[in-house]
Amino acid sequence: MVTDEDRELLEAALEAQKQAHCPFSRYPVGAAVRSTDGELFTGCNVESASFSLTCCAERVAVFKAVSEGKPKLEACAIVTIEGKPAPPCGACRQVLFEFGHNMRIVLGNPEGEVRVLELFDLLPEGFTADQLLQRAEQTGDLD
Ligand code: THU
Repeated sequence: MVTDEDRELLEAALEAQKQAHCPFSRYPVGAAVRSTDGELFTGCNVESASFSLTCCAERVAVFKAVSEGKPKLEACAIVTIEGKPAPPCGACRQVLFEFGHNMRIVLGNPEGEVRVLELFDLLPEGFTADQLLQRAEQTGDLD
C-alpha cells in the first residue's frame, strides 16, 4: 500500500531529480531518504568524466543524511525516467542496508507509477560490520 509518507518522499525525490548531473548517461535519478525521526534528505546522481567516479542518487542522499548526523534511516524513494520504476543498483542496496536494515523502498517514475518494496527483498544477506569485528577478534586486533 502506498502511504501519504511514501508520496511525500517521492515528491522530494522528484524535485531532487531536477538537479541530476548526468551529461554522459542522460539518465537522471532522484532519491530521498527519511530518517527514523522523520527528517528528509535528497540526492541526485552526479556523474564524472572519469566514469567510475560517478555517484548514484541514493548514495548521495544517504551520505547527506549521515553527514548531517542522521545515520538511522527508515525509507528511501527513488525516481528514474519513464517506464517501469527502477530498483537501486547493487552498490546502493549495500549502503542503504548499512543505515536501515529493512528499509522501505519506494520506487516511482514521472508518470506516477509507484512500487513499494522492502530492502530485504532486494538484498537478503548484506555485509555487516559484525563480519569485520569477528576478524578483529580472531586476530586480536581489538586488544
Ligand atoms: N544510477 C543511480 O543514480 N542510481 C542507481 O541505482 C542506478 C544508476 C545512475 C548512475 C548513472 O549516473 C546513471 O544512473 C546511469 O547508470
